[in-house]
Amino acid sequence: MRIDVFSAKEYDRAFFEAENRGAGHELRFLALRLGPDTVSLAEGADAVCVFVNDRVDQTVIDGLASRGVRLIALRCAGFNNVDLSAAAEMGVAVCRVPAYSPQAVAEHTVAMILTLNRKIHRAWARVREGNFELEGLLGFNLHGKTVGIVGTGQIGATLAGLLLGFGCRVLAFDPAPNAELEARGVVFCRNLDELLGASDVVSLQCPLTPETHHFIDECAVAAMKPGAMLINTSRGAVIDTRAVIKGLKDGQVGGLGIDVYEEEDDLFFEDLSNRIIPDDVFARLLTFPNVLVTGHQAFFTKEALTEIARTTIANVTAFERDGAPLHAVTAPAG
Ligand code: NAI
Repeated sequence: MRIDVFSAKEYDRAFFEAENRGAGHELRFLALRLGPDTVSLAEGADAVCVFVNDRVDQTVIDGLASRGVRLIALRCAGFNNVDLSAAAEMGVAVCRVPAYSPQAVAEHTVAMILTLNRKIHRAWARVREGNFELEGLLGFNLHGKTVGIVGTGQIGATLAGLLLGFGCRVLAFDPAPNAELEARGVVFCRNLDELLGASDVVSLQCPLTPETHHFIDECAVAAMKPGAMLINTSRGAVIDTRAVIKGLKDGQVGGLGIDVYEEEDDLFFEDLSNRIIPDDVFARLLTFPNVLVTGHQAFFTKEALTEIARTTIANVTAFERDGAPLHAVTAPAG
């Protein structure tokens, strides 16, 4: 099958070409994002392969279907950027990579917690300037602290294991509590507020859905333990950034670590260092000493990229052979 890989970087090419050797699909790498202005580039493709910030809305799906594209293969776990109902209506199949490396994201989450807590980002900059002053670098022991995990799927459960290893008390909130985690000592809260009120660190590992959109809003910030740290390595819009900025300004939020941002599709994955950042909300975030931003890199390990390429190629091969990908994503009933 011909697969047009949108938003392709050099690392995508390297890992996909390696995994495609045995499969023999025709890969076409396009640096541009998929969207209404670029959908015409998929003319002649059987499948498109897209990433987190490609926009696969109704217009794009209509454009793909009219050009004969039969499969949208997401090379990520989240699928909030695809209009699944429109895809179903147009008979275009959608698939994803449900779990490529929960360790990659969970370990990056721990890296963010430790960096913010021990101020490694500030220490690094200071030492380079010959400043060995410790004032302002005071942290706390993670051992014995309470960490609340929102969403205990693949990544949340892996994160819980890592934090138990640090000697943390781990709380969780998930509509589908995980009995195995409970047996390991993780305490499931009855609601989000209970978790927020008791946690020194809150980490978001739930998908972006209509329910979790702006899950952390002004009320949720107020429900947090004063001075608690907030980490988001799930999807940007789970946080209402303006509400969290307000919390940072008055000290209610003691630190913020984000790998994702609600308006990230205008920023992330590109080198904008010679340009002016037009997003004032994002620019404000960068002024806080207790805010750490990474540009959606939590997934970015060799193991994860290998697994992403392998599963995506396997999805396309299964679709070609059986008419259905291995990991289909379908619109919820109704
Ligand atoms: P998963 O599907 O295994 O787990 C998600 C969990 O969230 C499930 O247990 C589900 O019951 C729970 N959940 C759903 N609605 C909830 C709610 N309202 N409140 C609390 N929990 C809720 O997904 P996985 O693999 O753990 O990934 C989680 C999210 O992480 C993905 O949806 C994706 O958005 C994000 N992600 C971010 C990456 C990054 O590079 N920053 C990489 C991979 C995933």
